[in-house]
Amino acid sequence: MQSTFDARPLEQVEAGALIVPVFEDKKDPRFGAGDLFEAGEITGKPLELTLLHGAPGVAARRVLFAGAGKVDKFDPAEMRKLAGAAVRHLKSKSVKRIALALDADRATPEYACAAVEGAILGDYEPDRYKTADDKKTVEAFAVAAAAGGQGLAEAVTRGRILAEAQNFTRGLVNEPANRLTPLNVAEAARQMASEYHLPCEVLDGAQMAALGMGALLGVSQGSAEPPAFIVIRYQPAQAASPAVHLGLVGKGVTFDTGGISIKPADGMEKMKYDMAGGASMIGAMRAIAQLKPAIPVTAFIPCVENMPGSRAQRPGDIVTAMSGKTIEVINTDAEGRLILADALAYARKLGCTHLVDAATLTGAVVVALGHLNVGLFANEDAMRDRVLRAAKAEGERMWALPLEDDYKEYLKSAFADLANVGGRWGGAITAAIFLKEFAEDTPWVHLDIAGTAWLDDAKPYLAKGPSGVSMRTLVRLAMDWQ
Ligand code: BES
Ligand code: ZN
Ligand code: ZN
Repeated sequence: MQSTFDARPLEQVEAGALIVPVFEDKKDPRFGAGDLFEAGEITGKPLELTLLHGAPGVAARRVLFAGAGKVDKFDPAEMRKLAGAAVRHLKSKSVKRIALALDADRATPEYACAAVEGAILGDYEPDRYKTADDKKTVEAFAVAAAAGGQGLAEAVTRGRILAEAQNFTRGLVNEPANRLTPLNVAEAARQMASEYHLPCEVLDGAQMAALGMGALLGVSQGSAEPPAFIVIRYQPAQAASPAVHLGLVGKGVTFDTGGISIKPADGMEKMKYDMAGGASMIGAMRAIAQLKPAIPVTAFIPCVENMPGSRAQRPGDIVTAMSGKTIEVINTDAEGRLILADALAYARKLGCTHLVDAATLTGAVVVALGHLNVGLFANEDAMRDRVLRAAKAEGERMWALPLEDDYKEYLKSAFADLANVGGRWGGAITAAIFLKEFAEDTPWVHLDIAGTAWLDDAKPYLAKGPSGVSMRTLVRLAMDWQ
């Protein structure tokens, strides 16, 4: 889909359809909306869609009134949803060239960027393996604004870069595990990195063994698929001062059977998305390479498959992590924290001063927060606030949960420094407490995206399946760093 900025008066914009946001409490009569409001045919309620053919004096063949809700509640996040829902609706009607009208009050870069993001994200379908040849495609999306216009063309480009990176993440997440092994993730990362001129390195099992990554290798040993540890670097033209080096660590379990502590069959097919954290980091680096923040950023993606093979680790096994700590593996299904323990240690070793990890880590975070909020944990308030600010600006909902030292009790092991699971309660917290032992004193935020990385049902503005959550927040975090 091509995205552009169109500075012509809205009436002159040529398109198959012009999307016109309409508010509940403004009832703007332009483009023929007046009569429809009066007849009660449109109300302006959020995401209400009304398609009109041939509005008088409008060059576009159709006008799609898109409910925007109350004026003072309408922010860029609402714009993103509105554009997504409108594009999905028009696409279903085979409309190929679409424009969205920004009124004077909203002709700002933030709204323009969000509109383009919404359109590109809404257009995405996880249909790569559907062989039908009648797939519908949108060819062009234009943000139209006659007034203002300052910085809107740049904002359209920024929105395109972010949304394409998010769709790239979603594409990786949706790949089934037979088509995306750890080595395949590494290949995809390498390709992306070479396209955007980022250095990318992939450690193999022997290199990981030499580094002492016993926790990661313990998980991987049950699978015939070799592990891969991906490192992608971004360096700004000028070194940042004071010296900051952001590390992005993403869980890359290409399939999680649970291992010997095997999962129930029901729903296990979804465990292909257990690499969504890693995919977010690869997508974030794709956008970062183009948007060029002022600070160095390095992504670390440990990739393994968690299988119950004859060489698989057993409950009761004790492994030594790269940091030197020993871990009793009580449950082989708590594998994400094991691979992240070594990845966090490696990121610290390579000089990262600040860390964020994203992982589909626990079912417990879904119990706590449902599918609406990412669970956020931090070992430092300033770092927590930075990430929460970035998330808010990107319309990605995240909620801070506690990470008090008292919870460490739950991870006591009789035979090793710590166990890889706590008891029955507070599962998202004990997982985070486990990771904290490996982030040590580096300012760090952990994002548990188990409940938010996959949509079980389509939304009006997003297809069912991979959401790509957390990627935009991470890019914003790097861009806004000062
Ligand atoms: N990948 C799962 C977590 C998960 C669950 C992701 C549901 C997405 C949806 C993780 O590796 C896991 O299995 N966690 C266990 C931990 C438990 C054994 C302490 C869990 O949440 O059940
Ligand atoms: Zn698991
Ligand atoms: Zn897992």
